[in-house]
Amino acid sequence: MEPREIKRDIYFVGAVDWDRRLFDSLIPLPDGTSYNSYLIIGREKSALIDTVDPTMTQVLINYLDALKVKDIDYLIAHHAEQDHSGSIPVILEKYPKAKVVCNPRCKGMLIDLLLIPEDKFITVEDKGTLSLGDRTLEFIYAPWVHWPETMLTYLIEEKVLFTCDFFGSHLATSNLFVTDEEQVYESAKRYYAEIMMPFRTNIQKNLEKIKDYPIELIAPSHGPMHNKPEFIIKAYHSWAFDEPKNIVVLPYISMHGSTRNMVTYLVGALAQRGVMVKQFDLTVTDLGKLAMSLVDAATIVVGVPTVLAGPHPNTVHAVFLANALRPNLKFATIIGSYGWGGKTVETLTALMPNLKVEILDPILVKGYPREADFQALENLAETIARKHKEQGYS
Ligand code: FEO
Repeated sequence: MEPREIKRDIYFVGAVDWDRRLFDSLIPLPDGTSYNSYLIIGREKSALIDTVDPTMTQVLINYLDALKVKDIDYLIAHHAEQDHSGSIPVILEKYPKAKVVCNPRCKGMLIDLLLIPEDKFITVEDKGTLSLGDRTLEFIYAPWVHWPETMLTYLIEEKVLFTCDFFGSHLATSNLFVTDEEQVYESAKRYYAEIMMPFRTNIQKNLEKIKDYPIELIAPSHGPMHNKPEFIIKAYHSWAFDEPKNIVVLPYISMHGSTRNMVTYLVGALAQRGVMVKQFDLTVTDLGKLAMSLVDAATIVVGVPTVLAGPHPNTVHAVFLANALRPNLKFATIIGSYGWGGKTVETLTALMPNLKVEILDPILVKGYPREADFQALENLAETIARKHKEQGYS
């Protein structure tokens, strides 16, 4: 494909990875992803904004060759993670005069991760600028979006904000710009949940930091660009600032049907009380969907059978992940079945230290649930509905 000009002398030179299905050997990519790189040709200097995943370096090189790029002056590195930085060594080899422009923390990480020589760097301060002749780049530190070194670049004259992972989405598309907002909302929310949610307070600070910049275009490093930036900024505001909603997330495992029976009963009892439930069978669920559901849920209920005196390992995985993602949950509890004993509740609750939740009374049943157990589930549904109402979650 020929390089595409997105504004005068600004080109998309990134790679669309249609077929990738897993990121970080962890995160499902149902819709692929892209590694966006942008070339800005100024009157005196040129700048390449980020590179691409090392598996797709040749796509970037082909674009640069097609544009007959002889020299690159500045290689702006927003973030040291290899999906954006991994092609820097090859670009430096092809364009030996290029300097990597980043903040001091990113420089250290790029030296560690990619063994880039020290003399290849120019470091910049927060709010520092760099002239390309007729255009000016302003660098905006945006720590913990989602690594400590992350930085954004604002192209002052064109009002373009290059945001790296911030406002991105794992979505392979041939469109440069957002066309289907519903689809991009889903992908961006999934991405926020998996990558950004653990740093919600930093996201809030960084949203505040950019609020006075006039922005005509947001150009992230994954997914399509936002030529209506208010759409994605508003979505981020809601995910990062809003109170939880009247939602219960219910990941569960069942081995012989007892726990499933309890789950089914509780879901019905909650639904009758107007509480929305998102139920996930952990043997088949897409962990990205589970993560996404945690963005605005108020309560998590884990459905778990006891195996070898402890929780089923799949639930351990899910709870460990939920704890690492630090969602804004307010309540948690555990329901399930056991055969003869064990420490299921103690083990699972010990895995939730990051969740600032009130633990509601767990319901652990010996064998198959009986009448009294269903009544306990009924009471649990009542308690959850009442607590959500008291907090004003709707
Ligand atoms: Fe897309 Fe954190 O790298």
